[in-house]
Amino acid sequence: ASTLGAAAAQSGRYFGTAVAAGKLGDSTYSTILRREFNSITAENEMKWDATEPSRNSFNYGNGDRIASQARSQGAALRGHALLWHQQQPGWAQGLSGSDLRSAMMNHVTQVATHYRGQIHSWDVVNEAFADGNSGARRDSNLQRTGNDWIEAAFRAARSADPTAKLCYNDYNTDGINAKSTGIYNMVADFKNRGVPIDCVGFQSHLSNSVPGDYQANLQRFAALGVDVQITELDISGSNQAAVYASVTRSCLAVPRCTGITVWGIRDSDSWRQGENPLLFDNNGNKKAAYNSVLDVL
Ligand code: XIL
Repeated sequence: ASTLGAAAAQSGRYFGTAVAAGKLGDSTYSTILRREFNSITAENEMKWDATEPSRNSFNYGNGDRIASQARSQGAALRGHALLWHQQQPGWAQGLSGSDLRSAMMNHVTQVATHYRGQIHSWDVVNEAFADGNSGARRDSNLQRTGNDWIEAAFRAARSADPTAKLCYNDYNTDGINAKSTGIYNMVADFKNRGVPIDCVGFQSHLSNSVPGDYQANLQRFAALGVDVQITELDISGSNQAAVYASVTRSCLAVPRCTGITVWGIRDSDSWRQGENPLLFDNNGNKKAAYNSVLDVL
């Protein structure tokens, strides 16, 4: 196959990208989007600050634009992200305790209900674990509402949209380390207790290398009975093409690794400005990294 999406589809996988609604009118951007990708994640448009700018008053304009783009090109739609300590609206940042807890759950229910039936996978909870060696939850306003906030969010999301796969998503979880093991233990516990969880997302924001146990890490999560997805891939550095190939090979080697999403199209679209971590250059030309991914798929 001659495009990323078609090549990934040969093994039943998707190849996706993050999309910004404001760029859909850019013809270079939208031409590559339609041609190459069969999954789309809203880069910012489905986050809490975008969807609920004031309490219980929802704005789905830009999120719906992205959903409609996905539909029109036959791409899957990843929902990102229902609960996260960042990009919260100011009104939520000012809440705590039971008031915040009910606002969080209402947010999950309302947004998941709005997109019900349209979402392939939801990042229900994003980045809830701490960096470093503790293996513990990150301190945040969400965490301070009670340690059970994550399972409560997954249950609310399941009720609101029973057909979406429900994912936990995080970064610095690429190898077997304290942070990924903390998440692994949570997922094992959820599976044991029947808390609804279907997938784990590995953001994989990488810098010139990938841990040697990347595939083993994906595999240990898959063995818990969840899908694994590479959700925000971008890779900086001179070794870029080889590292992209290695990440792609690892996903293909794990039957439950169901798809790869890169976090933007052209280098100029990247949140990592100046690092050129994506598959297309600023002019929309394919880079060496593009060819190395396509070769592996
Ligand atoms: C980033 C977006 O790419 C930027 O446009 C925005 O300013 C900040 O967020 N982890 C995530 C993504 O889960 O939502 C983040 O996206 C990148 C890190």
